[in-house]
Amino acid sequence: MTARWAAGADLVVVGTGVAGLSAALRARELGLRTLVVTKGAANDGNTRWAQGGVAVVLPSEDAARDSADSVAAHAADTVTAGAGLCDEAAVEEIIAGGPAAITALRGLGARFDAAEDGRLARTREGGHTAFRVIHAGGDATGAEVERALLASARDGAIPMLEHHVAVDTARTASGAVVGLLLLDHNGIPGVVHAPAVLLATGGSGQLYQATTNPDVATADGLSVALRAGATAADVEFVQFHPTVLYTGAGARGRCPLVTEAVRGEGAILLDATGARVMAGVHPLEDLAPRDVVSAAITARMTQAPGGVDDHVYLDATRLSTVDFKRRFPTVYAACAEVGVDPLVDPIPVAPAAHFHCGGVVSTVDGRTGVTGLYAAGEVARTGLHGANRLASNSLLEGLVVGARAADAVAADLAAGLLATPCTAPGPAIPVAPIADRDTLQRVMSRYAAIGRDAEGLAVVGSVLDVSTVDRPLDSRQAVEDAALTLAARAVIASAARRTESRGCQVRTDFPERDEQWRHSLVVRLNPSGQPVLAAPLELRGAA
Ligand code: SIN
Repeated sequence: MTARWAAGADLVVVGTGVAGLSAALRARELGLRTLVVTKGAANDGNTRWAQGGVAVVLPSEDAARDSADSVAAHAADTVTAGAGLCDEAAVEEIIAGGPAAITALRGLGARFDAAEDGRLARTREGGHTAFRVIHAGGDATGAEVERALLASARDGAIPMLEHHVAVDTARTASGAVVGLLLLDHNGIPGVVHAPAVLLATGGSGQLYQATTNPDVATADGLSVALRAGATAADVEFVQFHPTVLYTGAGARGRCPLVTEAVRGEGAILLDATGARVMAGVHPLEDLAPRDVVSAAITARMTQAPGGVDDHVYLDATRLSTVDFKRRFPTVYAACAEVGVDPLVDPIPVAPAAHFHCGGVVSTVDGRTGVTGLYAAGEVARTGLHGANRLASNSLLEGLVVGARAADAVAADLAAGLLATPCTAPGPAIPVAPIADRDTLQRVMSRYAAIGRDAEGLAVVGSVLDVSTVDRPLDSRQAVEDAALTLAARAVIASAARRTESRGCQVRTDFPERDEQWRHSLVVRLNPSGQPVLAAPLELRGAA
C-alpha cells in the first residue's frame, strides 16, 4: 500500500514534547514552513509527567539559594553522574545554553515557583551538589513547560497533525531524507514531502511492564532513525527512577512518580525493617545519582530476609521545612489514591523504567549522520547523559537542543546541503518484525532491567525470536510494536556486549566497572534489518 494523500513543508517535526515544540517555535521565528505531527493528542506526550524541574544555573538575582553555584559545577555534576561516558564538549554546550532557554521560556509565559523573597525557588535532586533545580506548580514542572510551549504554538498557528503516526522516512536513492510516511487516524497512509525531518518522539519506557512513561513512549523515533540508516549509541543505559509509587505487585504501564525533589527536601529511604537504604552507600546518601540509588534499592530488596521484597519506603514524615501537600501536590494526590498519607506514612516505592539515556546519535544541534534527518530530546543521544542522566537535565536538553535543531535545519537549507523533495508517491508501507508486546515487556522486565546477566539477555533474544512475526506496519499498534521489538533487540545486543557494570547498566555477572569499556557502543541495522553493533566510532559531531 502506498501513500494516498500528500503535503509539503520545509520541516516536519515529529512529537509535541518539549524538544519538538521548542524546535517548531524556533523554526517559525526563522520563517521555515513547519508541520508538527504526533500520533496522539498534542498533550499526550511524556513532558507533562515530568515532576522535579529544570536543572539550570541562573544569576543569583533571579533565583534563591546557592548563589555560589556555576555552570561549570552543573556540567561537572552531569559528567560525574554520566559514569565516564558523557561527551564533555556536548555537556558544556547544552548546560551553558540553559539560562537563555529558561529566559525564552519565561518570555513565552511559563511560570516557575517563587521563594519567599520573590526570586525563583530552587531545590536539589540526586547527583546535584547545589540547589539549582527550578520547578513549577510544586511538582508539576513538565505540565507548565508543556502548557506554555503548546499555547505559543497554537497562538502562532503552527500547523499540527494530531493522531498521525510516523511510519518511515521517504529517502532519495542516495539515502537523504526527503519526507515522512504517516498513517492518519483511520490508518490511511500519506506522505509529507520535506527536506528535513526532526524526530522528537521521546523515549521507550513501554519496553518494560512498569514505567513512569505514558503509553506513547514506544521507541518510535529510534526505529524510524535506524531504518533510515542512522546509528544509535548508549542504548543499553535505560534509567530506572528509584522512587515510583508502589501500588502492588501487578503494576503495569505508567506508574506515578515520587519526585526526587522529595529526597531533595530531606526524605530518606528505609527498608522493611526501618533501616536506611543509602547510609554508607555513597557520600551523597539519599541524593546520590539515580543509578546508584536504584541499584542500592534493588540490592536491598533482593537481600531482604525471608525472601525478596518488592518495595522499600520513602519516609517524608519528618520533613519540617516544607508543607508537603502544597510543595508536592501531584505526589500527594497519587499517594492519597492508594490510601497513603505522606505526612504520616512512609511512602512505598520501587524503581521503574524512566528514561532512555542512549538513542539516535546526534550533535548538540540535532544533526544525525543522515542528510535531512535530525533528532532532539529523549530520542537523541547527544552525549549529555552518558551512562546515567543527571536528574532534571532532560527538560533542559529538550529546550536547548530542540531550538538549536531548528537553527541547524535553516542553516543546512540555506547552504544547499539538503536534498530536494520530489512529489512522487511516498514509500510503500514497510514490513517489519513484531513481537507480542506483553511477552516482550515481561522478558525485558525480568532479564533486562536492573541486574542483567549473559544468560538472561540470551533468554530475551530467544523469546523474541519465537514470538516475532513479520507484519506490515499498517496501524499505530503495528508501528509501536515493531519499534519496541527493534529497540528491545538493540538494548539486549548492547547490554550483552558490555561485560561490565556502569551507570544504568548493572550486570550481576560483571559487577565491577571495567575501564576498557569506557566508550560508547554504537548500533546500526544490518541489511536484513537487525540491530548489530557497529565498529566503535568517534561520536563527537555525530556519525
Ligand atoms: C523527578 O522529578 O524525580 C524526575 C525528574 C527527572 O527525571 O529528571
